Amino acid sequence: MSEKTPPYAEQKKTKQSKVRIGHLLKMKEEGRKWAMLTSYDMYTAQLFEKAGIPVLLIGDSAANNVLGYETSLPVTVDELLPLVRAVARSTERPLIIADLPFGSYQASPEQCFHTSVRFMKEGLAHAVKLEGGFEMIPQVKKLSSSGIPVMAHIGFTPQSEHQLSGYKVQGKEGGGACLVELAEAFEEAGAFALLVEMVPAHVGASISNAVKIPVVGIGAGSQCDAQVLVWQDMAGLRTGKLPRFVKQYADLNSVLTSAVNSYIEEVENGAFPCTEHEFD
Ligand code: KIV
Repeated sequence: MSEKTPPYAEQKKTKQSKVRIGHLLKMKEEGRKWAMLTSYDMYTAQLFEKAGIPVLLIGDSAANNVLGYETSLPVTVDELLPLVRAVARSTERPLIIADLPFGSYQASPEQCFHTSVRFMKEGLAHAVKLEGGFEMIPQVKKLSSSGIPVMAHIGFTPQSEHQLSGYKVQGKEGGGACLVELAEAFEEAGAFALLVEMVPAHVGASISNAVKIPVVGIGAGSQCDAQVLVWQDMAGLRTGKLPRFVKQYADLNSVLTSAVNSYIEEVENGAFPCTEHEFD
């Protein structure tokens, strides 16, 4: 990386153009890393945009981070669409990627196309993401040949959690080479980027070196071209046992808990509202 090139988040302060997939390819060529986050609503989307996040994912993780489901499996297209639209409507610059929910694309390339078109037209997304292995190559070909940028999610794929017997690191031993082949096949089929989840760090590095398209890692080591986290994990809104790959940069849970406790106390003891909050 050239010493003169400022980090991506700094550049946003001077250049306000929309982030395109071409920019992400160029950053890979230049060896410049970038950070991606999930977002599901207006305030976080605007805050993340202002901070310089170039790519926002409206993940199917909305299921277990917003909608109260236990896993990402139950969320439907109709439930996810308004969240995608909210994020897209509230931002100008980031690339907006909509996750295709479980069951909305696996049946055929045509099903995948029609679901993706809904996310582009009704959700105003710029790209979509799907999970899977070699069986998803026809879907990726159909989307990329129809003008729909598609990110392929490989490694641990949460929508297959039951098939994979739970949350387990993928690509150990011989599996790493297979994931590199899969990554190359998705690149060849027209995917604009890959998301690689929960693989050994050396496998994340091999995948990133094998393809020209950007590789976004989550639990895939430091050699990936970009990193993604679910925002509630990153900001510490979520409590309880966290996956090893999560780093918490704040403790929003404590901040909010303390705010709510103060509010309750002040309402109960009459300290709120006081004259400054009252109308004459
Ligand atoms: O839905 C999601 O949040 C994801 C994560 C891996 C980022 O796909």
